[in-house]
Amino acid sequence: MELTCAGKTAIVTGASSGIGRATALKLAECGAAVVLFARRRELLDQLVSKITAAGGKALAVAGEASVSKEIDSMMDRAQGWEEGGRKIDIAVVNAGRGLAGGILDSDESQWRQVYEVNVLGTAHLLRVVAQYMKGRKSGDIVAIGSVVGRNVSPFSSFYGSSKFAVAGIIEGLRREVCSHGVRVSLVMPGVVVSGFQQVAGYTEENFGKGVAQFGKLLDPKDIAEGICWLLGLPPHVNVNEIMIRPTGQTYP
Ligand SMILES: NC(=O)c1ccc[n+]([C@@H]2O[C@H](COP(=O)([O-])OP(=O)(O)OC[C@H]3O[C@@H](n4cnc5c(N)ncnc54)[C@H](OP(=O)(O)O)[C@@H]3O)[C@@H](O)[C@H]2O)c1
Repeated sequence: MELTCAGKTAIVTGASSGIGRATALKLAECGAAVVLFARRRELLDQLVSKITAAGGKALAVAGEASVSKEIDSMMDRAQGWEEGGRKIDIAVVNAGRGLAGGILDSDESQWRQVYEVNVLGTAHLLRVVAQYMKGRKSGDIVAIGSVVGRNVSPFSSFYGSSKFAVAGIIEGLRREVCSHGVRVSLVMPGVVVSGFQQVAGYTEENFGKGVAQFGKLLDPKDIAEGICWLLGLPPHVNVNEIMIRPTGQTYP
């Protein structure tokens, strides 16, 4: 089923790079007006220009995904985008970061930030968006988890634990809102080549050598395709979870 989003508005967090950027572009191609949220304003502005040049509609809102007030103000901006107000139909809750290493060897000075963005910021946005969609009795929420949020990886087990939390939050939320016409889905990517590796601190030694055997790795567009596929299903069908790995990814 082909996704058509004409007349719909989608919020995409982490839209300045990687999976969020590719998803925002794909949703805009399908006709959605997209609200782009991330910290790097210049990258968001460039994406707005690209989308509007192609005939689409986009709004950049720069902000920090771990700060509740900034998330709330992004929601306000999204709803007040047009005179008379704009309804929010889709939220892709994607902003997040990785961290190389396990409990023994990951950089403990970054643990708090990983949880503040990946878990607490995500939970706050999910709460705000779900409350809004529950009131409207419709909407789609897609959160980005990870294969390491389902399978413990010794190479990124601290980061993975934050995505285990996301999986739990998402299933809890699904049960809270599914009877109100709101679909909630978790997309769990395997290895996607993006800005993620640099931010997480992956190197040839702790990452490159391990994934070399997997063959062709995923592109952010591959995940965007998966997200748009599940959004395009009939409203009574909610694919709750999908895991998307490179074909050759044996582990995790
Ligand atoms: N790449 C992979 O292999 C992989 C696998 C499984 C899951 N994931 C998950 O996929 C999601 C997207 O990652 P990606 O691969 O697309 O990585 P990416 O290219 O580094 O993109 C991450 C996005 O999140 C935004 N972001 C990060 N921290 C933020 C903060 N504190 N406040 C606001 N925005 C923030 C970044 O924007 P700014 O820096 O401009 O703020 C950027 O737009 C993440 O949740 C990640 O955990 C990735």
